[in-house]
Amino acid sequence: MVQESLTDTPRYKVDSVFSENAQIVVNTGEALKFLKTIPNEAFKLIITSPPYNIGKEYEKRKDIRAYLDEQKLVIKELVRVLHQQGSICWQVGNWVDNGEVYPLDIFYYDIFKEHGLKLRNRIIWHFGHGLHAKNRFSGRYETMLWFTKSDNYTFNLDQVRVPSKYPGKLNYKGDKKGQPSGNPLGKNPSDFWECLCNDWETLVWDIPNVKSNHPEKTEHPCQFPVELVERCVLALTNENDWVYDPYGGVGSAVIAAIKNKRYAVMTDREESYTSIAKKRIDDFFAGHLKTRALGTPVHQPTGKEKVAQIPEEWRNLQ
Ligand SMILES: C[S@@+](CC[C@H](N)C(=O)[O-])C[C@H]1O[C@@H](n2cnc3c(N)ncnc32)[C@H](O)[C@@H]1O
Repeated sequence: MVQESLTDTPRYKVDSVFSENAQIVVNTGEALKFLKTIPNEAFKLIITSPPYNIGKEYEKRKDIRAYLDEQKLVIKELVRVLHQQGSICWQVGNWVDNGEVYPLDIFYYDIFKEHGLKLRNRIIWHFGHGLHAKNRFSGRYETMLWFTKSDNYTFNLDQVRVPSKYPGKLNYKGDKKGQPSGNPLGKNPSDFWECLCNDWETLVWDIPNVKSNHPEKTEHPCQFPVELVERCVLALTNENDWVYDPYGGVGSAVIAAIKNKRYAVMTDREESYTSIAKKRIDDFFAGHLKTRALGTPVHQPTGKEKVAQIPEEWRNLQ
């Protein structure tokens, strides 16, 4: 049977198990158990934000070694199911114990390298806002490690270029003197992804009364903005490739994939999250899922908002 392409049909089906003819798979269960059902080299992009072992409502905090040993079993399977031209994007922050910070990507780097994967970028996601630390500098970034399985990997830079700051810049010497020096499609977005998270944080966390206005937010405590995953989907896969998120939450990676005509698979062990994911998929195909468009300008306070002004009580302290 020929697999129906998401490109050609407005119809779709959501399965709970993976098969060659599937289009979208939302599985409620343990990632490791699900992975045992997947054939070798099935997925072009594996993108996830795993549990950080920090005691969120969906995880039990444990010793960092025990946590990493568990993750190693999942990663071994992920490498097996990764396509030869495929990528793994692993987004993590810090694990903190007794005030001591353990940057998780440092620990994960060795695990992926043991499997022969090659690091292409360590992407910094800078947050403008968050908790204010008292005994160290406040944490304002997380990282995403982008590994490939081989040297022959999919990378569609033109799909994710961003507007140049100075598109009118001209070559000042050589054969192309006087001609534009940049790329008409824009510039490489670099490995420092500030604008996207800044906006998300500002809208969702920092100004509570606009929280409900954010088009995407659900009840999940650490949901990916779809736009963040979209950049990876567009750059690291082609239409009709498979994208998998082993810790899929409310399905942000699935939405980013299907929005761009890729097949999508996710697992999450919490039924309350996978049911939201399924609802978001239905809303997407019905045309009423709101997502923030890739490249939408960042929210900038005008200075007139109350939260942007110095409180009355502080004025004579300055
Ligand atoms: C950081 S959240 C990911 C959120 C997701 N990126 C989104 O946008 O909704 C991690 C998710 O992993 C799930 N999880 C934790 N351990 C799991 C396991 N062993 N197997 C499957 N899912 C798991 C949690 O329920 C949680 O939703």
